[in-house]
Amino acid sequence: MPSTSSSSRDRQYLTTPIYYASGEPHIGHAYTTFLADVLARYHRQAGSDVLFLTGTDEHGQKIQEEAARRTMEPQELCDAMATRFREAWSDLDISYDRFIRTTEAEHRAVVRAFVQRLMDRGHIYEAEYEGWYSVHEERFFTEKELGPGRTDPIAGRPVELIREKNYFFRMSAFQDDLIRHIQENPEWIRPEKRRNEVLGFLQNPLGDLSISRPRSRLSWGIPLPFDEEHVTYVWVDALINYLTASGAIRPDAQPDDQGFDDVRDSWWPADLHLVGKDILTTHSVYWPTLLMGVGLPLPRQILAHGWWIVGETKMSKSLGNVVDPMELRERFGSDPVRWFLLREMPTGEDASYTPERFLARYDELANVLGNLASRVTSMIVRYRDGRLPAGARDHGLDPAIDETLEAVADGMQRLRVHEALSAAMELARKANGYVEEREPWSQARRSGGEEDLDETLASLLRALVVLSALFLPAMPGKATELATRLGLEAVPRLDQARTLPLSELLIRKASPLFPRIELEK
Ligand code: MSP
Repeated sequence: MPSTSSSSRDRQYLTTPIYYASGEPHIGHAYTTFLADVLARYHRQAGSDVLFLTGTDEHGQKIQEEAARRTMEPQELCDAMATRFREAWSDLDISYDRFIRTTEAEHRAVVRAFVQRLMDRGHIYEAEYEGWYSVHEERFFTEKELGPGRTDPIAGRPVELIREKNYFFRMSAFQDDLIRHIQENPEWIRPEKRRNEVLGFLQNPLGDLSISRPRSRLSWGIPLPFDEEHVTYVWVDALINYLTASGAIRPDAQPDDQGFDDVRDSWWPADLHLVGKDILTTHSVYWPTLLMGVGLPLPRQILAHGWWIVGETKMSKSLGNVVDPMELRERFGSDPVRWFLLREMPTGEDASYTPERFLARYDELANVLGNLASRVTSMIVRYRDGRLPAGARDHGLDPAIDETLEAVADGMQRLRVHEALSAAMELARKANGYVEEREPWSQARRSGGEEDLDETLASLLRALVVLSALFLPAMPGKATELATRLGLEAVPRLDQARTLPLSELLIRKASPLFPRIELEK
């Protein structure tokens, strides 16, 4: 079980969705995961205890059908795909603390304890059900919700009419409590636009939630503890992963003492669930009402991000325009891919991927941050043999640094990650402006200009040390390379970056941080 410190507030439990083990990781998965990673690294850097959870969603019809298509056992497919996701996250420098798989024994036990608890508290009943099922979304839709030509309204995929006995969770009973919670906690769903959508959705009566599938139709799932002929609906199974990983529910505990009444020694409740807007309803309606049903606290916040499109069109397998983050990484390295996705998409809005936009962002890195690093390090080597004298004044950029630190903290706190990153880049821009303004090359020629030159170089070096810390969450590799070029052993913590003695650093000439990339059109 992960170590905890839930009583103090300097802890952060951050989650990504668990990704379906039926397909390869793509840029959409990478984006949600980068968002979580940048926040996890930011909070660790600020001294918080962090549990960053990601993983794979391994049950349900989608997986069963994909395995059949590949003539594999579902478990074999899941094992292979979980490995693919882990490899991708390691190549893209994702610093997750726990990778959960819903086929783990611990998770299966927690799911069974959870639904048993719902049953014991009288929130589950049995009924005949008829509805339109989308395997792609793994959920039922009502006739009214269907898209044109009877398709699922989210992805436009085929649906099938299914009539069967199901167990239902009395979700409707929690509608008023949920609305109240959203109204009393204006920051609970971010951004505002998404919060309003959920409130709008809740203006209509909330139905009950089918939480089981007959095993005769779907065998690949977690059997219900009170009826082994039915398996748990995959979304219910999947959402509970957040609880399993928190350590709140001991899988070996007895029914009357399963940790539901006391979560103090665990990571529960999560501080932030990061999700795409397509899965906001499951996270902001199904999940909180299920938690109310078992009597557990709700997650503290949910952030729904937008959708990556390609040029003007939706990314989809059938259109063959799915952007492969691993291909981009092979050409540019992991950091520019992270930077592009995090900087380009206004957190919460949709954004479009085009090769031109990608290159423009790469150029920004090279021309602003890369250029600053090269000119400052080479001037320190040229004019001061790589080391500044002790006592050189280094406050020339202090006002800009103060402003930047505030803007970055504000952007991260308000989950406007693109603004935090833009503020960090702004500091590099200002430092470049300071070079132009101070003209160190003239100071070097002027007799008696020694002290002024020291001040210019020290102020710039201070800014670069701070920049290495500011860029660490988004670009851990490049930030570390930058720190190394500045003679540091590692990227310093933000508070240390402002005070560490610059005269102890030995700077050497180095190759560009962001080399030019030759491109075929
Ligand atoms: N298994 C469920 C989640 C269960 S969580 C308890 C699922 N998995 S998924 O593999 O489809 O991946 C979902 C995540 O990828 C969502 O956050 C979704 O928004 C994100 N993306 C998938 N395609 C995307 C884009 N084109 N753009 C941005 N993100 C998108 O849903």
